[in-house]
Amino acid sequence: MSAVEEPVGSRRSEGRSEGRGPIGVFDSGVGGLTVLRSLIDLLPHESFVYFGDTARTPYGPKPADEVVKFSMEIADLLFERGVKLLVDACNTSTAVALDALRERVDVPIVGVIEPGMRAAISATRTGRVGVIGTVGTIGSGAYQRAAREIAPEVELVCAACPGFVEFVEAGELDSEQVHILAERLLAPVVAAQVDTLVLGCTHYPLLARTIADVVGPDVVLVSSADETAFTVHRRLHDEQLAAAPLAASSARHDFLTSGDVAWFAELGGRFLGPEVETVQAWRW
Ligand code: DGL
Repeated sequence: MSAVEEPVGSRRSEGRSEGRGPIGVFDSGVGGLTVLRSLIDLLPHESFVYFGDTARTPYGPKPADEVVKFSMEIADLLFERGVKLLVDACNTSTAVALDALRERVDVPIVGVIEPGMRAAISATRTGRVGVIGTVGTIGSGAYQRAAREIAPEVELVCAACPGFVEFVEAGELDSEQVHILAERLLAPVVAAQVDTLVLGCTHYPLLARTIADVVGPDVVLVSSADETAFTVHRRLHDEQLAAAPLAASSARHDFLTSGDVAWFAELGGRFLGPEVETVQAWRW
């Protein structure tokens, strides 16, 4: 399936406006399931359809225009499945594609960068905040822009952490090797004496123990997952899109992956938990 060139525009079905459709959540792979975990916990009445682009992961090292194209293709397919709201759970995609996605599909779209930044700004006491993410996310300057808009007085130190994603996917969360890499990559945020650190990548919450060992116990680690879920909750209510509470028992969660189904199901269980039951294959 190729990207549609024209914006999808104002296609909004009745079901969506009455709060009946599922919420779409997507990521370059399984990492966005950390965001889905928070969403399911906060919004038990809602149904979700999750798309993990595991055939084309990782997005972090890819050029921005490629990530924008992939993100738009995913938004199109989730729109076609009737989602009433879309969550871009991938930091790299949020960093480069959020504006393009908002132009393309006519449903509310929530990314992970602004919620994470807001949480960090409320948490900091010294005004020195660190952000870590993929090469694509940090290089895009999206966190830097968000900080300037929300709290220009905050001193921001950003560091790309290539290699972290691969360690997490290999299940190496606190090995000596990952520790050595973390010491090297986190050196700039340690030197800047930040008191708050945004884990600006879907995979990094799984490395929280190693990261905390390196930056020290006094640094508050902020994962965007919970903050993003609060933002979604607010948008659903503001836009009268929330599912009726009675729908709790009928909430269902669908999973699609562009890559290997068995791999997604295995790794997905680690990132999300028992909700990953059946996974459908999607071929581009
Ligand atoms: N999901 C990506 C992110 O949050 C990490 C994995 C990747 O590079 O695709 O930036």
